[in-house]
Amino acid sequence: MKVVIGSEEEISAKIAEEFIKTINGKSHPVLGLATGTSPLKVYANLIKANHEGRVSFLGVTTFNLDEYVGLEGTHNQSYRYFMNENLFNHVDIDKSKTNVLLGVGDYVSFMEGYDQKIEEAGGIDIQILGIGSDGHIAFNEPGTPFDSLTHETALTEQTIKDNSRLFNDISEVPVRAVTMGLQSIMNARKIVLIATGANKAKAVYGLIKGPITEEMPCSILQRHPDVTVYVDEAAHSLCK
Ligand code: GLP
Repeated sequence: MKVVIGSEEEISAKIAEEFIKTINGKSHPVLGLATGTSPLKVYANLIKANHEGRVSFLGVTTFNLDEYVGLEGTHNQSYRYFMNENLFNHVDIDKSKTNVLLGVGDYVSFMEGYDQKIEEAGGIDIQILGIGSDGHIAFNEPGTPFDSLTHETALTEQTIKDNSRLFNDISEVPVRAVTMGLQSIMNARKIVLIATGANKAKAVYGLIKGPITEEMPCSILQRHPDVTVYVDEAAHSLCK
């Protein structure tokens, strides 16, 4: 596991360059994408690079990590909406090649076919991750089995509280989600994780220095051969 420390601007720019390298190095690259506030500046950098002609998304296929159960893709807090607004609508991507788990309708069968769909696309070349304050990655909460594939899960009180800042009221935060599992994430060839701010410091400690335990889902990444953790000083503060 490599650790890169810098300001949010610096680490976001570096991660964007990793994505550009991967995209430009293959005719059909497969990207694993994340939502949350952490990757926003990475996506802004990718949009800029696309507009400058440094990278094209025409051959790209994407898979997103997770989605809230109960939200339509048109809901402004759904992860499909987030991806359209913050990346897909602004680059030359073929939207039919962007995969985000469904939260409504026949979301269960879509979820059940997700890992196979990723495999058929060739597997994820580069996966970006954020991290929850309790150490969750995607929506794999503490206690999720390390061998989990894409599944439906209940959100913890902590995650509901953390994510309520993005909703009008905590009562509007969905209590269930569909998420790629920890094994689904580990199948990616390359993983980059971004974490900023002091409220991520405990989770980042568990990620980098802690024991590998299902109680700290992110700790499984210590077993992956190609992970780089990008953090700011505040998120890294407990690791010194
Ligand atoms: C949500 C998402 C995670 C994300 C986490 C942190 O729970 N499911 O994928 O990493 O929030 O979000 P943020 O980056 O906004 O702190």
